[in-house]
Amino acid sequence: MPWEIIVSLCSIMVLLNMSSSDSFLNRFDDDIDQISNPLDEIIDHFDYDKLEDEHGDRNGTHCGECSPELCPVVQGCRAGLILDNCGCCQECGNLEGQTCDLGDTNVFYGLCGMDLECKIDDLDVGEVAEPQCVCTSQDALCGSDGKTYMNICKFKEATFSNSSIKIKSNGPCKTVPIIKVPPQNLVNVTGSCVVFLCEVFAFPMALIEWKKDGKDIILPGDDPHISVQSRGGPLKFELSSWLQIEEADLADAGTYRCVARNELGNISATAVLGVLGPEEMSVYLMENMTEMLEYGHSEREYDEDYY
Ligand SMILES: *[C@@H]1O[C@H](CO)[C@@H](O)[C@H](O)[C@H]1NC(C)=O
Ligand SMILES: *[C@@H]1O[C@H](CO)[C@@H](O)[C@H](O)[C@H]1NC(C)=O
Ligand SMILES: *[C@@H]1O[C@H](CO)[C@@H](O)[C@H](O)[C@H]1NC(C)=O
Ligand SMILES: *[C@@H]1O[C@H](CO)[C@@H](O)[C@H](O)[C@H]1NC(C)=O
Ligand SMILES: *[C@@H]1O[C@H](CO)[C@@H](O)[C@H](O)[C@H]1NC(C)=O
Repeated sequence: MPWEIIVSLCSIMVLLNMSSSDSFLNRFDDDIDQISNPLDEIIDHFDYDKLEDEHGDRNGTHCGECSPELCPVVQGCRAGLILDNCGCCQECGNLEGQTCDLGDTNVFYGLCGMDLECKIDDLDVGEVAEPQCVCTSQDALCGSDGKTYMNICKFKEATFSNSSIKIKSNGPCKTVPIIKVPPQNLVNVTGSCVVFLCEVFAFPMALIEWKKDGKDIILPGDDPHISVQSRGGPLKFELSSWLQIEEADLADAGTYRCVARNELGNISATAVLGVLGPEEMSVYLMENMTEMLEYGHSEREYDEDYY
């Protein structure tokens, strides 16, 4: 088989691996409780007075005199306070990523909170693009809690949960590399093409190297059927590296190690590659299938015995 074709087979896998790892978008705020449910907010905002406002009745009769002392007490706003559609009482500003009213009039979805602006994402072609709150600054910050916040808005949301968090420095927190997606164990048949992925977050930027346990050389070395590709991403301050083994043979079986290093230290993760001859491979697949069938069967038997 021509070399280019093998490469493109593997590249397809690379793309698949890539998209399966896009689920890290919320990694920095996973531990922050979702205090306001966005759906509640939409329901709150579905109020017929506000629909009238859309027809220009902003200073119509329904707003009445503003009596600030009658305003409900608002608490728990993670993006600060804004004025309601009558310009009288305070309410929670919308968070980053929430739908919002364009312009500075609170009509239906509400206005964005502190450090946020309401924007239509130009890249969002295809679907009907709804305006969303976007942080005005996209510069990362390091918090006194040792966590990296991707922007000032995320930082302020966190300080709502813990007001003792301060800004320690601009830019991400300096850290030894963190392996976000470690390589996964693989079993495949001789002659197949296998790819290991290793995804790392680090600041300062890391260098990723691959090694096979028991050998000192850094891959690919001079081995023509092994190649290594690295690129930045998928997110800021991340690096992804792929180790690709084309036409794997029995000697390629073993433990592969992804080593990520920066000036603060190094960390590694390993995955085992199993390479089986065609017969062993079909036995392996059969055993696996039998195992799964037996599991399903025994469960049914159990049910029958029980009733
Ligand atoms: C309604 O408010 C606008 C500004 O928001 C103002 O120009 C206009 O005079 C007001 N109309 C009435 C009837 O108060
Ligand atoms: C708040 O943050 C400080 C450090 O920034 C930390 O020591 C403290 O444990 C945090 N409190 C809570 C409740 O998480
Ligand atoms: C096994 O090899 C085939 C053929 O090269 C490839 O398409 C497939 O993605 C490989 N499977 C795994 C899990 O690596
Ligand atoms: C990697 O870090 C360990 C300590 O965690 C250290 O002993 C080792 O020398 C480091 N290796 C390299 C190549 O920097
Ligand atoms: C074999 O079974 C295990 C679970 O028992 C599964 O995770 C694995 O993907 C299976 N391998 C193959 C090649 O089907």
